[in-house]
Amino acid sequence: MSDTTPDSSMAEVYLQISPNILASFPKFRPPVDIYYFDDRVGRVKRYHEADKRLGTEGQALVATFASEGVLFLLRDDYRVYAKHLSKNLGLVLTEDDFTPQEVAEIFFQALSDRLNDFLAQPKEQPYEGLGKDISILVEYLWVDPARVECLVDCLHTEYDLAGHSVNTLFVGLALFIMALKGKLKRASLLSVAMGLILHDMGMTNVSKFILDNTSFLVRTDRESIENHIDAGLAKLKRLGVSDPIVLQCLTEHHERVDGSGYPQRLMNKSLSLPGRLCGVADSFSAIISERPYHEPMDRKKAALVLMKDAKRYDQALTKLLAVLLTQGVAPVLQAS
Ligand SMILES: [Fe+2]
Ligand SMILES: [Fe+2]
Repeated sequence: MSDTTPDSSMAEVYLQISPNILASFPKFRPPVDIYYFDDRVGRVKRYHEADKRLGTEGQALVATFASEGVLFLLRDDYRVYAKHLSKNLGLVLTEDDFTPQEVAEIFFQALSDRLNDFLAQPKEQPYEGLGKDISILVEYLWVDPARVECLVDCLHTEYDLAGHSVNTLFVGLALFIMALKGKLKRASLLSVAMGLILHDMGMTNVSKFILDNTSFLVRTDRESIENHIDAGLAKLKRLGVSDPIVLQCLTEHHERVDGSGYPQRLMNKSLSLPGRLCGVADSFSAIISERPYHEPMDRKKAALVLMKDAKRYDQALTKLLAVLLTQGVAPVLQAS
């Protein structure tokens, strides 16, 4: 055991581990350093080193510390413990001690894992698993829609399909919440969340080679990419999903307001709000990510690029995106 001195504000440095949080970790090898408060000396001490084996006695003692409220971990380890807590996502609604940054990371991990499960097996059960975690996210936002700002702060820049989809979800939800303000309805928040996270589900049909080389595409490669819309819709149809908002996100996220998009070259008025905002969130998430053919762009700069492209992107939405990234959601949500 080694000593450590807590900062003046202990809660800023340590997260208290409740019995429920402890149950999310592997019993024998907790993945993070574990600390306890030693009342006799009035200090926090390290009890367990990350990934080392914990014997039966050690497990019992750790469980006792947790039930007595004196077990802690370092908040700096949040990316590690978020991965484990994400398997029991409901904890973010019942545990009070998480910071908004920790909650955002837990949601990111949980939703990308759940989406990966579904993309690997686009069947009913993984679809329901994803839907369950999305409804926890909606529950979390419904309590205070301004919480969406912390989700946007935690976007990841490493690219993979699931990460891109969760980035698109977080940005799209922020735009939806800002665009609707007082008229926001829980059911439509849930539908738009499902549509945003699923918007590229047909991409699993496109080869990685084509996806990594989009600057040198021949016509058949381009068709293969454009076909991800139909491929996604076909999968949703097999699952019996007919929610119009979910379908609008899938079918319209590559349409552009000047009619230059695909697959139907729809124009301004025929585009739905979910379709237009999914298009903005999708393009933004793509620009800020690291790809083999481009460096990640700074977020504020990316918002500016989309705002300047007024022919193709809905200007009201790109303006909201710029406000989101420069001033947060408060100026919009507080305006009458
Ligand atoms: Fe797409
Ligand atoms: Fe996308």
